[in-house]
Amino acid sequence: MALLPILHYPDPRLHTRATPVAVVDDQIRQLAHDMAETMYAAPGVGLAASQVNVHVRMVVIDVSDDKSDLRILINPEIIARDGEQECEEGCLSVPGIYDIVKRAERVKVRALDEHGKTFEFEAEGLLAVCVQHEIDHLDGKVFVEYLSQLKQNRIKSKLAKRARITA
Ligand code: NI
Repeated sequence: MALLPILHYPDPRLHTRATPVAVVDDQIRQLAHDMAETMYAAPGVGLAASQVNVHVRMVVIDVSDDKSDLRILINPEIIARDGEQECEEGCLSVPGIYDIVKRAERVKVRALDEHGKTFEFEAEGLLAVCVQHEIDHLDGKVFVEYLSQLKQNRIKSKLAKRARITA
C-alpha cells in the first residue's frame, strides 16, 4: 500500500482524457487499493486515477461515514440519468475550494469490478454527485469548470498564491 501524490488544479495533466482499462490485472488492483488508501488519508469521498496522474478509467468512491462502502469502478459509464440536484462540491485536486454544481439527481452506472466483472448500480444524492464528479475527472474535467470564468480565474490565482507560499 502506498499514498499517491495528488495533482492540484490548474495542473494541465488534470485535463487528460483517460483511456479504458484493457485488462483488470494485479497492477490495476494495486492501483485501486493505493487510490483508496490515498482517498481515505486525504480524507475524501472519491478519487479518480487521473488525479494521481495515471490516465486510465478507474475511480474509487466511499461516501459512508465509516469507510464501509468502498466502490472500485473500472471503465465506469452512466447509462441513465434523471432529475436535477444542486450540491456544494469540493475536490482533493482543488483544496479548500467549495461551490455549488448542478447535476443529475439519480444515475444508473455500469462498470467493471476489481475482478473484471461487469456490474450495475443505481445511485442518488451524494453518491450520484460523487460518481458524476469522478467520471468528469476521467474526461479531463474538474468541477470548477462548471463555475463562471470569473470564479475560475479567482480560484486559479488563489491556488497559485498558495503554491508559492508552501513551495
Ligand atoms: Ni475531484
